[in-house]
Amino acid sequence: MNIFPAGLPLSPSPWLGRLAVPLALTTWLLAGPAAAGAEGLSARERISLDADWRFFKEPSPAPDGDLLSYAQVKPWVLATGMELAQGAAAAAKVRPAGNPGGGPVAYAENGFDDSQWRLLNLPHDWGIEGPFKQEYPGDTGKLPWWGSAWYRKHLAVPNTDQGKKIYLDVDGAMSYATVWLNGQCVGGWPYGYASWRVDLTPFLHYNADNVLAIRLDNPARSSRWYPGGGIYRNVWLVKTAPIHVAHWGSYVTTPVVTDQSATVKIQAQVDNDSDLDAKLVVNEEIFELKDNGDRGKSVASLANVALPVAAHQSAPASGELTVKRPKLWDINKPQRYVAVTTVLQAAQMMDQYETPFGIRTIEFTATNGFLLNGKRVPIQGVCDHHDLGALGSAVNTRALERQVEILKEMGCNAIRTSHNPPTPELLDICDRLGLVVMDEAFDCWQAGKNQNDYHLLYADWHDDDLRMLVRRDRNHPCVILWSSGNEVPDQGRPIGITLAKEHAALIHSEDPTRPVTAAVSDYNAAFSGFQNTFDAFGWNYKPGNYAQFRERNPALPLFGSETASCISSRGVYFFPVGNNKAGGRGDFQMSSYDLYAPGWATPPDTEFTGQDKNPFVAGEFVWTGFDYLGEPTPYNADVSNLLNFFDPAEKAKAQQELDALGKIPCPSRSSYFGIIDLAGFPKDRYYIYQARWRPDFPMAHILPHWTWPDRVGQVTPVHVYTSGDSAELFLNGKSLGRKTKGQFEYRLRWDDVVYQPGTLKVVAYKNGRQWATDVMKTTGPAAKLTLAADRAKITADGRDLSYVTVTVADHDGLLVPRSMNHIKFSVSGPGEIVATDNGDATSFEPFQAPEHNAFNGLALVIVRAKTDQPGTIKLTAESDGLAPETITIKSSR
Ligand code: GAL
Repeated sequence: MNIFPAGLPLSPSPWLGRLAVPLALTTWLLAGPAAAGAEGLSARERISLDADWRFFKEPSPAPDGDLLSYAQVKPWVLATGMELAQGAAAAAKVRPAGNPGGGPVAYAENGFDDSQWRLLNLPHDWGIEGPFKQEYPGDTGKLPWWGSAWYRKHLAVPNTDQGKKIYLDVDGAMSYATVWLNGQCVGGWPYGYASWRVDLTPFLHYNADNVLAIRLDNPARSSRWYPGGGIYRNVWLVKTAPIHVAHWGSYVTTPVVTDQSATVKIQAQVDNDSDLDAKLVVNEEIFELKDNGDRGKSVASLANVALPVAAHQSAPASGELTVKRPKLWDINKPQRYVAVTTVLQAAQMMDQYETPFGIRTIEFTATNGFLLNGKRVPIQGVCDHHDLGALGSAVNTRALERQVEILKEMGCNAIRTSHNPPTPELLDICDRLGLVVMDEAFDCWQAGKNQNDYHLLYADWHDDDLRMLVRRDRNHPCVILWSSGNEVPDQGRPIGITLAKEHAALIHSEDPTRPVTAAVSDYNAAFSGFQNTFDAFGWNYKPGNYAQFRERNPALPLFGSETASCISSRGVYFFPVGNNKAGGRGDFQMSSYDLYAPGWATPPDTEFTGQDKNPFVAGEFVWTGFDYLGEPTPYNADVSNLLNFFDPAEKAKAQQELDALGKIPCPSRSSYFGIIDLAGFPKDRYYIYQARWRPDFPMAHILPHWTWPDRVGQVTPVHVYTSGDSAELFLNGKSLGRKTKGQFEYRLRWDDVVYQPGTLKVVAYKNGRQWATDVMKTTGPAAKLTLAADRAKITADGRDLSYVTVTVADHDGLLVPRSMNHIKFSVSGPGEIVATDNGDATSFEPFQAPEHNAFNGLALVIVRAKTDQPGTIKLTAESDGLAPETITIKSSR
C-alpha cells in the first residue's frame, strides 16, 4: 500500500535546520519580550496537546508486519534526537532536503479535509477498542493493535511566539511515528516506548493555522505481550526562549549525604539557539516539594553564576549547594525537593526550569542486599507491563496511581518496568508514594524474539533510546537500577558480553550514580563473564541456584529480577489439589491454590525459600503484580501446549486428559500471572505476599471460598496465609487443629478438611498472642448487587476516574463465589462509563460496553468525570433477578 496518497502542492516552507534562526528572533532578543521584565515570567510554557485530534486508521489487510513505509521515512526520522546523539552520530543527524515520497503527502497537508476523521482526545489506544477475535494471537491479547494510522491536529500559534523555540514533546507513541508540520516532515521516533522531542520551529506559521500530522506504523509480530497502538501517552507543546535549558537538560545528584547536610550538585545544560553570543547568569534555588507539586520553603540557593554561551552552542552550568539537615527520600517518607534553575540575560529571565529530585543514598551489596539511606530494604517488588487493563495502554494517571496504591497495600515497595521505559507519570507516582523502580530499556538487543521486534531497530537506535531513558529518568529518586534488557537472546552469545559492556558504559556516561543491571534468564550467563558486565546481577527464576551464584561470584550483588510466575484465576479452585507444575483444563482457567507455575517458574513459596536460605539476595520482582493483556500462559495457543507445563510425572495422565479434549484453540486474551487480576481485584496470592511483606500488619486469609454444594462430604483442602506464625482453623465451631509454620513454610495447610457448608474461621497467632482472624461463610443464592467506589469524590477534569467494584451478593451481603450474572450499567450526571471488566482472562466482552458478566462474583466499572462539569454522578447496576443498586460520586473542580 502506498502510504503517501497524492495530495496538495508542497508547502513552500524550506527546512531551516537547528542552526538557522528566523529573522524576527534578533529583534526579540534585543528588545526583549514585553512580559519578561526583571521579575518577569519564564518564557517556558508546557501546554498539553492532548485535546481534539482527528484520527484515521488505515484499512489494514492481514497483520503481515509490513515495514515498507518506514524505509521511506527513515532518513527523516533518523535525524531526530540530535540532543541525545554524541559526536559523529550527532553530526550525522541531518534532515534530508524535501520530503519522504518525493511529493506532497495528502494526509499531512494543511488543506486536507479531515472533518470525516474521528475526533478524539489523547492518550489513545486503538487496539483496546477491539473487537476481540479468536483468530488473533493470544500472546498479544486477541486485539487488533497493529496497522497504520494518522492523527491530525490544528494548532494556532500567535505572532507573539515568533522568535521562540517551539517543540513537540511526545511521551510515547506506538510505534514508528513520523511527524509532519504544515506538510513538512519534521522527524519521528520508531521505538514505541520512548519519549522524544521534535523541533517544530522551522515550519511554523504564525497567526495562522498549523497542521500537525502524525503517522504511526505498528508492525504485527513485534511484541510478546499487548503493546497497544496509537499515541497512547501524553503529548505536549513546549515553548522556550532561544536561550533555554536543554531537553532533559538538568541533572541533579547528591554526592555527599549526612544527617547534618547534603551536597546537591545541579548540572544544567543551557542551549543558545540564537545568532548572538550570550553572557548569561544562572541562579539555582532548592525548595522543599509538597505532595501536590507546589514549592515549599526555600532551603538553599546559589546566585549569579556567570555563563557565557556562544551563538548556536551549548554550555554546562554547574553548581553545588548545601541543604542543611536534609529530609531524606525514603520509602516510608518520600520527601522531595525541587531545584529551580533560572537563566537570565541582562537581568531578563530567559528560562526557568524545575527539576524535582530527592536526597537519598543507594547501594547494592554482595552480602547485605540493597541499602537505602544506609539501611537494608528488602526489595519486595513486582514486574508489570504497561497496559491498564480495560483502558488498554492509553495512559491515565489515576489508573496508574490506583495500581500503585493496591500494590503498596500489599507491602510491595518496588516496580520493574518490564520490559521497556515506562510512562513518565509512573515514576512521578513512585517518587511521591515511595516505591523504588528498576527502569528497563529493552526486551531484546541484536537478536530478536519476534520477526519485527526491537532487534530491527537496535543498530540505529539503541544508543539514543538508552540515553533517552537515562536522561529523562535520572532525577527520579525512585529509580535505583537501570536495566539494559530482559532475557535478551544475546545473553547466551559471545557478542552479548561486548554489547552489555557497551550499554553499561553508555548508561554510566549519562548517570554514574546508579547500578546497571539486566534480567538474565540463562543459567550459564551467570558464570560466563556476562555477569561481570553488570553492577548488580538480576537473575530470573533461579531460587535454587542463589548459593551457587554466590560461591562463584563472591562480590557481585544479586537479586531476583523476575520470580515465581505462578498462575491463577481469581476465585477458581481445582480438585483434587495436586502438586503438578501447571494444571490447566478445558475451561481455560487456572486454580488459585497458588501451587501452579510453568516449567521455568515456581510457586511464591519456593522463591521465598531461596531468599531466606540466602539472605544476601537483595529481594525479588514477582512476575507480575497485575494481570496484563496477552501472554495467557498456559493457554497461549491450543490446549496441546499445556503438556509442556506439567510435571514429567503427571505427563501421561495429562496427555490422556488433553486427548479427550481434542485440539481446542484457547480463547484466552490476558495473563494468569498477576497477583492481582486484570480488573484490579486481588487474587488469593495477594495475601501470601502481604503476609510476608507486611509482617507487622495483622492479617489472615482463608482459601478457597466455602460455597461448594457439589462437594458435601468431599476433601476440600484449606490454606491460610497469615503474617502470624501459627493458626487454628474451625469448621462450624469445631477445631480442625492448630498449625505452626515450620522453617521455610509460608502457608498453613489443612489438607484433609471434609467440606460441610457453614462457617470456616481461622484464628492466627503471633508470638503466642492472638493476631488476626478471617472467616469464610457458605453463602445463600445471589440476591442483590452492591457497589463500592474506590473514590467517592473526583475532579471534573475529563481524566479523573472512580473505580466501582460491583459485587453479586446474597441476602446478607456476602459475595456469591461462582456467580457470573450479566449486569447492565447506566450513568446519569456529568460522568461517563469508560470501561467495564471482570478479570476473566477468557472473556471477549468489549471493555467499552456498559454491561458485563460478573466473574466469580465481581465486576468493575470505571467512571470518568466530564471536563468542567462539577456535579453528582449516579451509577446504577441492574441484573435480572437481583436487587439493583445506585451509587453516587461527586465530581468537583
Ligand atoms: C519470562 C519473561 C517474561 C514473561 C515470563 C512469563 O521468561 O521474561 O516477559 O514472559 O517469562 O513467565
